Amino acid sequence: MRAAIIGGTGFDTIEGIHLEPEIIHTAYGDVKVYRGGGEWEDIFFLPRHGISHSTPPHRINYRANIKALHQLGVTHVLATLAVGSISAHLPPGSLVAVDQFLDFTQNREGTFFNGGQEGFAHTLMSYPYCPALRQRMIEIGAKLGVSIVPKGTYVCTNGPRLETAAEIRMFSILGGDVVGMTGVPEAPLARELGLHYAALAYSINWAAGIEAGKEITFIEEGLEALKKSVLTVFLQTLRSS
Ligand code: HPA
Repeated sequence: MRAAIIGGTGFDTIEGIHLEPEIIHTAYGDVKVYRGGGEWEDIFFLPRHGISHSTPPHRINYRANIKALHQLGVTHVLATLAVGSISAHLPPGSLVAVDQFLDFTQNREGTFFNGGQEGFAHTLMSYPYCPALRQRMIEIGAKLGVSIVPKGTYVCTNGPRLETAAEIRMFSILGGDVVGMTGVPEAPLARELGLHYAALAYSINWAAGIEAGKEITFIEEGLEALKKSVLTVFLQTLRSS
């Protein structure tokens, strides 16, 4: 098995692992991917926003990122997603193994199947995240004492602006639990290429208007420990898959 970690906001490197950069040329553009050293040489690391965190969510080349991993022979992908919390049972600081998404993005290149030479297919998307990999991640979390909420619906907005309180109210009515800007089309693109993909959302704020009348504030306390837990769960999950 070859595995990759896609790191979102706050995950620009993997502490404790030597990483060697490699440029992967794809039909959709070049991607800088990092290969782990030593005992982690089967693990690739891809910082979703680029290494200096300079690409905003709506400008990320999701197709190039996923294609690059596919070209490297990667079969299993775990991704981090920074989110705001909509549901009362997921306060900031929660980790959620999301199992569904609602797509509110616009104008993103969201498929490898545009017809012509690329061909086309209607990829099944009823359960967009790999159930086995999610389950494994949840089990490893339990073993390590890291509390992971086993399911949740991820709402993907286009960004880069944050949401209005009314939008969050709408997402709540539609069944959204957490909201972020980068989970789609990453997950469906991975599925189009047959990759086993799962994501762990980590909440850094209450979504707009959840704390009535208050502007959004982002947590700082406990964030480093939370991120460390995410990476530990990911590495142990990939090692045991
Ligand atoms: N909304 C959208 N994306 C986010 C948020 C949010 O509240 N928090 C972290 N990423």
